[in-house]
Amino acid sequence: MCGIFGIVTKKEQNLGSILVEAAKRLTYRGYDSVGVATLSGSTIDLRKDAGRVEDVAAKYKLTEMNGTRGITQLRWATFGEPSQVNSQPHLDSDGDMVGAHNGNVVNNVELRKQFMAEGLLVRSQNDGESCVHAVERYINQGQDFIQAIRNAYNDLQGDYAFVIGKINDDKLFAIKKGSGLVVGIGEDFTCLSSDLPSILPLTRKIIRLEDGEIVTLKADGVELHSVIDGSIIIREAETITEEMNAVQKGGFAHFMLKEIHEQPDVARELLHVLQKSEAVKVILDKIKNARQVYLIGCGTSYHACQAGSVYFAQLANRSAVPVVATQFIEQFLPTLNNQDVGIFVSQSGETKDVLNAINASKESGMTCFGLSNVIGSTLTRAVAEWLPLCCGYEISVPATKTFTNQIIAFLYLAYQLGGKDMNSLDDLPGLMETTIRTTMLQVEALTPDINKWDDLYCLGYGATYSIALEGALKLKEITYAHCEGMLSTEFKHGPLSAVIKGLPILFVAGPNNVPLIVSGLNEVTCRGGRAIAIGEEDEQLKTNASDVITLPKSNPWFSSLLSVIPLQLLSYQMAVARGFDPDFPRNLSKTLTVD
Ligand code: AGP
Repeated sequence: MCGIFGIVTKKEQNLGSILVEAAKRLTYRGYDSVGVATLSGSTIDLRKDAGRVEDVAAKYKLTEMNGTRGITQLRWATFGEPSQVNSQPHLDSDGDMVGAHNGNVVNNVELRKQFMAEGLLVRSQNDGESCVHAVERYINQGQDFIQAIRNAYNDLQGDYAFVIGKINDDKLFAIKKGSGLVVGIGEDFTCLSSDLPSILPLTRKIIRLEDGEIVTLKADGVELHSVIDGSIIIREAETITEEMNAVQKGGFAHFMLKEIHEQPDVARELLHVLQKSEAVKVILDKIKNARQVYLIGCGTSYHACQAGSVYFAQLANRSAVPVVATQFIEQFLPTLNNQDVGIFVSQSGETKDVLNAINASKESGMTCFGLSNVIGSTLTRAVAEWLPLCCGYEISVPATKTFTNQIIAFLYLAYQLGGKDMNSLDDLPGLMETTIRTTMLQVEALTPDINKWDDLYCLGYGATYSIALEGALKLKEITYAHCEGMLSTEFKHGPLSAVIKGLPILFVAGPNNVPLIVSGLNEVTCRGGRAIAIGEEDEQLKTNASDVITLPKSNPWFSSLLSVIPLQLLSYQMAVARGFDPDFPRNLSKTLTVD
């Protein structure tokens, strides 16, 4: 995910080193290109390219750049491939303004056509360039920056933050709409960034911008304006006292909680990226014509494969076999040939079990694709095509946001393959926000009772089977309680004997499976167990379950995805109540590079 940083200083100085260090601090967000621009008098020095910060910095001597103002940007490709021309920052038509953005301008394609028709010089396909031209067209009419940015705001659709500056001036201007933007105030300089951690090594005096606010950076201070009416906004700076580690948690007590809350945003980001992805087309073409499709991963990533398999079958009438990576080699290797397709799923892209399966499968001629969160990971280099999960860095060992984005990637592919209404997927991030907000307290109320037990069951059916497996894994992983995830219909074939008075059994109820789930609920309650249903508002669930955690109304596919959120929250709250650190559970590592 992109990140921007800008700085204004009193005197001309070496800004390259400061900007490169700031860029390095933004790298955890994920990126494929980097650029630096410095402004000095009537000159703009712009150097940028696709590649790692260290490599681009060395090749273009970024640390030697001087000026009184500077901008750096890390780009995660959405509009336009990773290349020098699509890297940011971007110049305006005559090269006397430079700017960069973070986010997505969704009407970029239409805007580029307009700019070209108006005679502006459009050099790239990137939407960051559209932000610059959107301001340029009003500056050319003689408007000042604040007015020009206010008009550009009306033209630019989507969520973004951007920063822009002009030669022969001493200021930078930036606006926030949907993407993060924090301002730092230091001795003889001011700066801004997509996030707080990249500012803190320079200053601890900061102002957090709200959506719809424009900031003017000057060496001796900042000014805030409303984008709506241009009025001045007065806001006192705050001083950050927390340690860096606490700050990186963005005010949350743990990374896991922060990452749970990031799910709607990264879902939005992923949907934008998939809409533009050439790899999606290649993967879908191969899947359509494949003899057999396999979805392969370990742990949480395997659970996403399980969900993907249901989506492919139910939404696109395409069978796809979900398999744990190690079992895939043992069971299916002899049957594979070059008409088969495998999608290998791994957050880290470094899981040895998955890499072993890829290597073995390639020898059989099977076409290998991937889903991974880490650009440049071994998996992404080993497969023919791959889709990024766009989650930024996931620090907490329990996977949360990468799981929901793995599921969304599979939903996206299944929707495309089945010719479903792609626009309806745009409802997902909002539904995820609602689910986090509305289930938090419901889960909190149940946590103390559930937390008395060290043996739990989490049951699902159809699309929610994978969620039951994932919920059980989250509970085991960070609470150290035993929790078995299984098909609700299998419970009566054995585990039912474990039910005793008060034992909590979690049922993940898809909206199309309520009657069946109701049978399961009653099998538990009539034996004194406590049947806790997670599902949409439903009279039958209310009547038959001991407790219900209510999800917002959607459809069976979205509902299965949403239902993992209360289970993530439950595991988190139980782990914290037990005094365990959910981010770093004992014995586990985020990336398993061993057999
Ligand atoms: C999930 O919470 C776990 N940390 C674990 O199951 C993980 O999903 C598994 O090790 C696979 O990792 P990967 O996605 O990086 O391949």
